[in-house]
Amino acid sequence: MLIKIKNSWDLKESDVTSEANFLSRRKFIQAAGIMGAGTAASIMVPSMTNAQIASKPGSNKYDGRDLADQQTSLDDIMSYNNFYEFGVDKGDPMAKAHTLITDPWSVTVEGHCENPGEYSVEDLVDHNALEERIYRMRCVEAWSMVIPWVGVSLSQVINKLKPTAKAKYIYFETLVDKKQMPGQVNRVIRWPYREGLRMDEAMNPLAIMAVGLYGRKLTKQNGAPLRMVVPWKYGFKGIKSIVKISFVEKQPVSSWMRLQSEEYGFYANVNPRVSHPRWSQSKERRIGEFTGIGGLSRQKTLMFNGYGEQVAHLYDGMNLRRNF
Ligand code: MTE
Repeated sequence: MLIKIKNSWDLKESDVTSEANFLSRRKFIQAAGIMGAGTAASIMVPSMTNAQIASKPGSNKYDGRDLADQQTSLDDIMSYNNFYEFGVDKGDPMAKAHTLITDPWSVTVEGHCENPGEYSVEDLVDHNALEERIYRMRCVEAWSMVIPWVGVSLSQVINKLKPTAKAKYIYFETLVDKKQMPGQVNRVIRWPYREGLRMDEAMNPLAIMAVGLYGRKLTKQNGAPLRMVVPWKYGFKGIKSIVKISFVEKQPVSSWMRLQSEEYGFYANVNPRVSHPRWSQSKERRIGEFTGIGGLSRQKTLMFNGYGEQVAHLYDGMNLRRNF
């Protein structure tokens, strides 16, 4: 994410993946059988066995298998992160997130629902229903990755909690604990990190609650033990290390809206036609992909990050310039 005090969006040379990494990614993908018929299930770590990942998700769900050969390397996904609770530089989360204790983990559910209470990750996310979903992810900073997530539809989690008719929005919060999250001594964000979705957005089958990626449990820097993934929105909507879920009536104020409401809106749908006030959103740099010597691949950003077929109807009749 970008804050005015720092040009953190400028890629440094050290941020760019080496070609060796890129090539080893290809080998990794082949070894894992991801390019072919197999799935990342074959390398799942303890607590998520092969049988626990449904290799063939329901045919009504988009699983992104057509993107399998574009997957960003695991190295890049784990080392180029935004997780301000550990610092504002891309390398901070990998260097510092080891202090986060993810087991045991408890999520508080409250607000307009029939089943409020304290839940473990296993209570919320049915490990027998885990699926792999390969999604394009587009950061507001104009870079992108393709990530093979492991998770369940957010709608499955919500159905367990039984929101009432009064619930118009779902609201998430990340842990606050300066000992575990040393970046929280810096008040760049008013902690906790917060995000929200309209209920119909949250119920769309593309939105997932992720607990893993590349067939492994989520690493701490990627938001362990559970995080949201909303592929048609800018990456900042994907709140990490969630400890609270609330069902609310009024549109919540997310962390980035609170910080810079003129730059970051509630909807945050990927939209190449609406520039960020300080830069264009029409193109993106795909992390790890090279066009040739020295060049990161640049490509056109797609409306709704390419997921319009699945989600455009959610915004029928809305002015997406105003509701950015
Ligand atoms: N969640 C929390 N709690 N704190 C953060 O700083 N950063 C967001 C989002 N979720 C963030 C967060 C931003 S700006 C992005 S782009 C994505 O996480 C990055 O996810 P990744 O590092 O797993 O790629």
